[in-house]
Amino acid sequence: MGLRFSTLLVLLYFIYGFVVISSNKDEYDPTIKTMEEFSGYPIHEPDFQDSLSSLSVETESLQRQIDELATLSDTPAPSVTRVLYTEKDVLARRYIKNLMSLSGLSVKEDAVGNIFGRWDGYESELAPVSSGSHIDAIPYSGKYDGVVGVLGAIEAINVLKRSGFKPKRSLEVIMFTSEEPTRFGISCLGSRLLAGSEELAQLLKKTVDGQNISFSNAARLAGYEDNEALSSVFLKKGSYSAFIELHIEQGPILEEEATSIGVVTAIAAPASIKVDFEGNGGHAGAALMPTRNDAGLAAAELALAVEKHVLDSGSIDTVGTVGILELHPGAINSIPSKSHLEIDTRDIDEKRRNEVIEKIKESALSISKKRGVKLSEFKIVNQDPPALSDDEIIKATESSCKELNLSYKKMISRAYHDSLFMARISPMGMIFIPCYKGYSHKPEEFSAIEDIGNGVRVLALTLAKLSMS
Ligand code: GLV
Ligand code: MN
Ligand code: MN
Repeated sequence: MGLRFSTLLVLLYFIYGFVVISSNKDEYDPTIKTMEEFSGYPIHEPDFQDSLSSLSVETESLQRQIDELATLSDTPAPSVTRVLYTEKDVLARRYIKNLMSLSGLSVKEDAVGNIFGRWDGYESELAPVSSGSHIDAIPYSGKYDGVVGVLGAIEAINVLKRSGFKPKRSLEVIMFTSEEPTRFGISCLGSRLLAGSEELAQLLKKTVDGQNISFSNAARLAGYEDNEALSSVFLKKGSYSAFIELHIEQGPILEEEATSIGVVTAIAAPASIKVDFEGNGGHAGAALMPTRNDAGLAAAELALAVEKHVLDSGSIDTVGTVGILELHPGAINSIPSKSHLEIDTRDIDEKRRNEVIEKIKESALSISKKRGVKLSEFKIVNQDPPALSDDEIIKATESSCKELNLSYKKMISRAYHDSLFMARISPMGMIFIPCYKGYSHKPEEFSAIEDIGNGVRVLALTLAKLSMS
């Protein structure tokens, strides 16, 4: 019986092998199909060899690039810390520009260091299709967030070039400056400016970092001399016919469901708030409890109020985080005389997110009154609306997944991305790939190179489709 069962298994194996080989023979090169569909004439005869090599991602060199970029960090591996306009950031930018040049792209940089690498289409007067992400990394984070979308977009161009594809619209890779708010407290700095935020251009003239270094000086030291003329960064609506970003999911769904690709339909609405309390401070032993106006306790109480208001929304989609809490003077035997909090809150429902912000403000006021501390600042740094992906880009991405035989699901992005701002000037879409346990913004962040390769293939084919439309 045992013998007969194993014979059956061997037989099934051969039948399976035969089916796979036969179906491979019928396989077509999806980029050629795309070119043919749009041009209406056969591009060239795909043969068996072509179909095997088509859309092949050089995963080994892509992994090597991810690893090399991760060494440009201010903290030890496996963590990555790469903050805007630091020495490591400047070196990483050079690395990306070199890669773009090696891929035959013409490279340009704007006044704040958004980097553009263009592959001219044969109708280069048409608005290009673009793809990209960021390479800055928050303190002690991982090596995939953003990086996959920049290196992946460059590799997607390489894939298309190797397949013999010729784009009609130009294809452009963008590396955005400072998606992370680490240094100046402003998220998606480069893409916000690209999308034409005059408010940000004005704000940056007086923005300083935690060391009191102005944005202008930091930019100048990094080699961006012309950063005074920030309106030169603005792009008009319609500058791109489509923008699509490849990114790790930063959540657990794709991995848990063993799904290869997430097709993003919308990006949640993020907001961030800065709060300062001022009390009297004093001696930790000598000042009796009833006499105190403890700015630290006001901050602690507000942090708990943030959690309460978020949970009270009743929706799992509402989140709130106090990621920064600083006490002054920061001595064990001194009552905090000043406290500073930075609060991040998001929701897919903008109205509900705004209600949470209102409640946080009411709490800050009532806590300051109750504790006799001054609420010296309550500043909403950003209160962004959500963004919807473009239907045509969603469809193009879905059909790429189908043609490449990759499972996919539509999903929303709870993290924000440069795509949130690109959506203001261009039809936008995003491609997610699975990451280990959904970990992100910590050193354990990981995506398997096979999953990254799948993302790059979907990106390449989608770019091909969009470039021909
Ligand atoms: C992006 O890094 C985010 O915080 O969502
Ligand atoms: Mn991030
Ligand atoms: Mn990111």
